[in-house]
Amino acid sequence: MGLKAFVGAMCALTVLAPLDAQASSPTLTRADNRDGQDLSGTWHYSVDPYRDGLAGFHRGAPGAGHRRYDDVDVDALTRAKPTALYEYDMDRAPTATLPQGWIGHDPTLRYYQGLMWYTRRFDTPALKPGQRAFLRFEAVNYTAKVFLNGKSVGEHEGGFTPFSLEVTDVVRASNNQLTVGVDSTPQADGVPPPVTDWENYGGITRPMRLVITPGTFIDEAWVRLTKDGKIAATVTLDGAQAANQEVHVRVAELGLDVTGRTDAKGVLNASAAAPKGLARWSPDRPKLYDVVVQAGEDRLTDRVGFRTIETKGSEILLNGKPIFLRGISVHEEEFGENPARTITEAGARALLAEVKDGLHGNFVRLAHYPHSEVTTRLADEMGLLVWSEIPVYWLVDFGNPRTLALARGMLADNIRRDRNRASIIMWSVANETPITDARNSFLYQLVDDVRALDDSRLVTAALLTDRKTVDGKALMGLNDPLADKLDVLSANTYNGWYSDDALDALSGIAWKATDKPMVFSEFGADALAGFSDPQLMRKFSEDYQRKYYEKTLAMARQISSLRGMSPWILKDFRAPRRQHPVYQQGWNRKGLVSPTGRRKPAFFVLQGFYKEKEAEK
Ligand code: GCU
Repeated sequence: MGLKAFVGAMCALTVLAPLDAQASSPTLTRADNRDGQDLSGTWHYSVDPYRDGLAGFHRGAPGAGHRRYDDVDVDALTRAKPTALYEYDMDRAPTATLPQGWIGHDPTLRYYQGLMWYTRRFDTPALKPGQRAFLRFEAVNYTAKVFLNGKSVGEHEGGFTPFSLEVTDVVRASNNQLTVGVDSTPQADGVPPPVTDWENYGGITRPMRLVITPGTFIDEAWVRLTKDGKIAATVTLDGAQAANQEVHVRVAELGLDVTGRTDAKGVLNASAAAPKGLARWSPDRPKLYDVVVQAGEDRLTDRVGFRTIETKGSEILLNGKPIFLRGISVHEEEFGENPARTITEAGARALLAEVKDGLHGNFVRLAHYPHSEVTTRLADEMGLLVWSEIPVYWLVDFGNPRTLALARGMLADNIRRDRNRASIIMWSVANETPITDARNSFLYQLVDDVRALDDSRLVTAALLTDRKTVDGKALMGLNDPLADKLDVLSANTYNGWYSDDALDALSGIAWKATDKPMVFSEFGADALAGFSDPQLMRKFSEDYQRKYYEKTLAMARQISSLRGMSPWILKDFRAPRRQHPVYQQGWNRKGLVSPTGRRKPAFFVLQGFYKEKEAEK
């Protein structure tokens, strides 16, 4: 059942179905290295601001002369019938190289939020008997309507999670015509909501493939080290032979073979004692093992790190030892003056290297939505702990069942895609969401979903802080009912930027101690790279940002239960709400580095703090 259908079903239900009944499209894990072919490359595109390709001008069905997704050769048709009227021709429309947000291939579309059509043609080897074919998109922002050879093959809503649409009965060997209607219009009941603080990069922003599988294939294979010292495997098969199938999960380097037979639903849960020689994954030693999963004729490989993460009182324990998270927040936006939210491996490596090698960090908050799998796999390889989140951000329509179903689907898709990534230690369910009863029950459901899907990681949320004055002094705290359900209490705090506090007063601000680990998920100040103002120390100067960091870190040092931080933010990023003509020009300037990677003075303040922390280990 596609997400759209499932969301429709959800709206019909008054009681939310348990999570496993919400499985939308197949997870199709490791789609990146399965049989099939890459569909990235040259596509034709046609902008459609009035959605002419979906509805006629009287809002009825679109006519033949407007249906961009029809499997036709418009030029040939009009030569055969000169009186035929077509007001589009995808085969002769301008071309773009995908994946990338459309801002990347047409700068005039900077703030365009609407419908865009993309089409390409491709040949593919004929399917062998029993094989299945899927169209796999790693991300399309925000909704996608997918047509193959003129037929609708599915839809998806959500700009940051993968989806796979089965096309076994539609794909043909030659001249397949694939058309995608991408609509980036923010939805009042969508996730994220219409107003955020980042550029809404519309488009097919991540790779897409045609994936070919056996009739019954390994849809998911979650392998992890449990707290009681076992290697556990949860393997889910998809297909007619999924039930009662023998499965092997092998780690040759460990001489391990976790095996068993799937149940009636095609799921295997099995475990074996972790071998003595197991090298645990950590930022200092990011050891990854080759895991091979075999089930019938399907074979899947993955690179997996084995570690444990838990809390004990106010400590975060990685492999049983207390750790301080030396982090920074990162948006998914590549270095450069004109990013298009197209993350390549090189682009992701550049960002993460600035965290690990530049800042001496061991942690990265991938804000505010699921980042590319390329990035989370690199974090595994490079040794960075990761905070992963879905865009339940600011004013979400918390009372709307459709919105909750969307958020639950995104959360499940994110966890199912990435729960083999040792680097990910926390799933975050929200960012700065105002406290109401509807918001609380919405987020309680999401926390329960995380617990049901992944008992091996921590749950958190970036919370708004509470400020009181006690004996004339500022006392900060987290007064949020959600805190009781979280493992890690994360605070976004901006004293000295979004307040009139004098910078010299910041280190005098006290924080209520917490009995759980606390993390500063955000603090930050804007600075335009190169703007120096040592006398006046105006906001947006590098001098102000540097002193802000010095004084905020002095405050942080005094908080006994603070176990980490991910200041806002590594790099300046595109933000339409930020339009100061001198300092911002459509960029949020809280980056410690400029869009082209120039390090600001505050970068070295944080680097110095992390070097101290590193030496304390
Ligand atoms: C908020 C929010 C960020 C935003 C930042 C800012 O806390 O979480 O998305 O960019 O603060 O105001 O710069």
